[in-house]
Amino acid sequence: MTITTCIFDAYGTLFDVAAAAREAATEPGREDFSAHWPQVAENWRLKQLQYSWLRAVTGAHTDFWEVTQDGLDWALEANGLSGDAALRERLLQLYWELSAYPEVPAMLAALKSAGLNTAILSNGSPPMLNGAVQSAGVGDLLDDVLSVESVGIFKPARAVYDLVGDRFGCAPPEVLFVSSNGWDAAAASGYGFTTAWVNRAGAPMDRLPWTPQHVLQDLTTIPDLAGA
Ligand code: LAC
Repeated sequence: MTITTCIFDAYGTLFDVAAAAREAATEPGREDFSAHWPQVAENWRLKQLQYSWLRAVTGAHTDFWEVTQDGLDWALEANGLSGDAALRERLLQLYWELSAYPEVPAMLAALKSAGLNTAILSNGSPPMLNGAVQSAGVGDLLDDVLSVESVGIFKPARAVYDLVGDRFGCAPPEVLFVSSNGWDAAAASGYGFTTAWVNRAGAPMDRLPWTPQHVLQDLTTIPDLAGA
């Protein structure tokens, strides 16, 4: 089926989630953090996602900003850094100003000039997503930014994926859903979207009942996949 609509996960897919810790580690006075930042970034992301799934299955929803702070607090404590309030504050501030991966603007521009619908579908709260979209300068290349906050449950709940058809009036196979999270791309396949997993790190495939249709190293081939 012809692709009419390209939908992107935000964190780790369009925006580089490790950039906050990597950038903080280069700042003056943070020499000690330069040895710790990769572990902090990994722990932070993993706990943020675990907490989102646990809150979804228990019905204890809160917004992604709170989950992001909870994940960071766990990561800082695990790395012996929980006493560094200034580091915590700086990392959280940087999370609102994440950079986009370098190929993102040209890739979105190619989709738009081919007349495809483009949007983000993310766990992020609307203010967080707005901050990242503005700082990456890609707002004009997106038709919408859809947040799970309108349904009050995190991915991969089906109610989240329903937001795409509700917004664009398209059938699931017309949607190319793009995520760097293997579990998100897999669950979106199960939902019926056409899917691409952006596997920059060469991670193993998640063992789930569904698999992504396409596995990519970065986003440069998305316009070709979408027929743009
Ligand atoms: C998101 C997270 C899962 O943007 O990356 O929804």
